[in-house]
Amino acid sequence: MEERVISGDVTEFDERFEQSLRPQLLKQYIGQEKVKDNLSVFIEAAKGRNESLDHVLLYGPPGLGKTTLATVIANEMAVNVRMTSGPAIERPGDLAAVVSSLEPGDVLFIDEIHRLNRSIEEVLYPAMEDFCLDIVVGKGPSARSIRLDLPPFTLIGATTRAGALSAPLRDRFGVPLRLEYYEVEPLKEIVVRSAGLFEVAIDDQAAIEIARRSRGTPRIANRLLRRVRDFAQVRGDGNITIALAKEALQMLQVDSHGLDHIDHKLITGMIERFRGGPVGVETISASIGEESVTIEDVYEPYLLQIGFIQRTPRGRIATRLAYTHFGYAFPEDAGN
Ligand code: ADE
Repeated sequence: MEERVISGDVTEFDERFEQSLRPQLLKQYIGQEKVKDNLSVFIEAAKGRNESLDHVLLYGPPGLGKTTLATVIANEMAVNVRMTSGPAIERPGDLAAVVSSLEPGDVLFIDEIHRLNRSIEEVLYPAMEDFCLDIVVGKGPSARSIRLDLPPFTLIGATTRAGALSAPLRDRFGVPLRLEYYEVEPLKEIVVRSAGLFEVAIDDQAAIEIARRSRGTPRIANRLLRRVRDFAQVRGDGNITIALAKEALQMLQVDSHGLDHIDHKLITGMIERFRGGPVGVETISASIGEESVTIEDVYEPYLLQIGFIQRTPRGRIATRLAYTHFGYAFPEDAGN
């Protein structure tokens, strides 16, 4: 069956699969040590004072566990979490409906908060600062503003682009936390934990191989694990050995750096058609048929992180590392 794409490279199956694997408490959440250390202090302090936790902004590339962390925070605070997203809140009334149903201390999670429109942001400011909503009712001369008091609550905003948030909104988060790509070791632990939940046997080496090819991203690690598990079930004896994992990953066209066919198309396109750049993201987008936001939010951050591309004021350039990885001779006059 074809997997329906929800956004970027996230499919419906990924979502369901992820849900079933999500850690519930900070001590089950693997990796992001700095973020967890900070959070555990703020959570304990807020609980000690019997207050709601200050508003939290989670930002970083997709798939690193922002939604998971929001659920974990709510569990640790022993409160409910209401989930919504920037694009889902179209009118001030939509926001009013959500916040007015909150219990004291509850978490309101707004995913893709950079996509909130500005008129909603303005309603959000007093809600965040003073726990009240000013709503305009009626039209024309009879329009008037009514003030709704809200229970204290914690807003957790998540975004892949902190830079796209307006400064006043960004400044109202007392706890901004940046999620980083995961190292191989914590990703391996996540793979082993997920395999355990699925009751499938996996060798250490196989877990490391999957972790290495997961672009520092738990969502990808779990997706690869699911595919390799299928492979083990059909072609093997159900156990995931290193040999089987390697074979499966090769069939899945995930290379030694975890790059897939879209990364290949992107980089080889830059090299072959644009002499390695500089080339603008819109031009790359048109030439490979991927949306520019997907390129910017999903593919580029990791390619930048591993040093395969660089951003310059004149556009993106493919680096020597990228040329070498894809088997091209690096033009010595390229200037990067
Ligand atoms: N599943 C996805 N991300 C995870 C994490 N950070 N810790 C444990 N399990 C996970």
